[in-house]
Amino acid sequence: MSSDTRNHGADHVGLGADTATYAITTVVAAADVAAAVVPSPARADGVSEAWVRVVDAQADLLASLERRCRAGVPFGALAADAAKLLSLVQAMDAVAVPDAEAAALYARERLHRYWLQCPYVARAFAKPLGYAGDYLLMDWMYDADCRADTRLGELLCKVYLSFPVVQAGVSRIDWLQRRIAQVVDGIPGVPRIASLACGPAAEVAGVLATCDRPIEVVLLDQDRDALAHCGARFAHQAAQGGMHPQSSVSLCNVAVRQILKDTDAVLGSVGSFDLLWAVGLFDYLPAPVATSLVERLRRFLKPGGRLIVGNFAPHDCMAIMDTVADWRLQYRTPEQLAALGPADARVAAEPVGLMWFLEVGG
Ligand SMILES: C[S@@+](CC[C@H](N)C(=O)[O-])C[C@H]1O[C@@H](n2cnc3c(N)ncnc32)[C@H](O)[C@@H]1O
Repeated sequence: MSSDTRNHGADHVGLGADTATYAITTVVAAADVAAAVVPSPARADGVSEAWVRVVDAQADLLASLERRCRAGVPFGALAADAAKLLSLVQAMDAVAVPDAEAAALYARERLHRYWLQCPYVARAFAKPLGYAGDYLLMDWMYDADCRADTRLGELLCKVYLSFPVVQAGVSRIDWLQRRIAQVVDGIPGVPRIASLACGPAAEVAGVLATCDRPIEVVLLDQDRDALAHCGARFAHQAAQGGMHPQSSVSLCNVAVRQILKDTDAVLGSVGSFDLLWAVGLFDYLPAPVATSLVERLRRFLKPGGRLIVGNFAPHDCMAIMDTVADWRLQYRTPEQLAALGPADARVAAEPVGLMWFLEVGG
């Protein structure tokens, strides 16, 4: 996969509205993928026999898939084993892991040489922007991009995209787009709507394309690269006539830390909204911070405005995400998500049922 869609260097890009720019949160290039694949002594200490069995069975299957991929066996002939691989990934979740770090080390030692050929897992593990799940990875996912340097990597992309949690991550975009369109429909005048932690803002593209009256969209993210990517995307969409000519998209470089520290200053700068949503953000926040953020974000709502917060539920591919991809999230049941909001908050799920949305206000 290439990263040639990136647009580096732009501080902010505005399309027809004021743009507030904050100091960027430091993002540090983190893990070195190569280091992860350097063989190290077997570290089965502290790991249960059941964990060794389930990981070794997966490693054996991956080795066999790699041989057949190298031999040019067509993917169709590997479909049954690709499905078996998914079951073995899910089997990891059924094993109790008393020592999470030892289990992660063992899984990486046995599985990284295969799974790091999958650009999704490699990027999540390497965290080139300082965290797993950056805008580029999300865009690959929404595009179902399976390009990789090896045939095994390509096959593993297909398996990765078949994880139920990944399918929920993709299906949330359609769900969100429909919900945003419904809410926007009921707002008089020019609706002012915003995505916090917008990433590639995939849902916004659809909303802008289908809304037949002007809307004002504000995209907020801590990552300047993500904002520059959105700037280029929506400038292109506007130039192609893919949105109402009076709609606007503004980009704001803002981090949660700033909202929590000085809510009024950020509010003064970005203004208030008829609809504000945050998806792919609360999964990274512990409960006290998440509760406090919901409280602060409610202050960004106009009278009658709504806040929508998405969060993944616990699922059956958590173990591989935690250990091999090192993409650790705060999974929440609908009850735990509801507990972050006021008593009258509602929760709803996207169609796969692994991503829940908390809705406040309205
Ligand atoms: C998993 S992506 C989700 C993007 C998008 N909402 C989606 O659902 O496709 C996470 C995004 O949250 C942003 N983000 C993470 N932590 C943040 C923070 N503390 N403040 C603001 N944005 C943050 C990242 O820069 C990234 O673009």
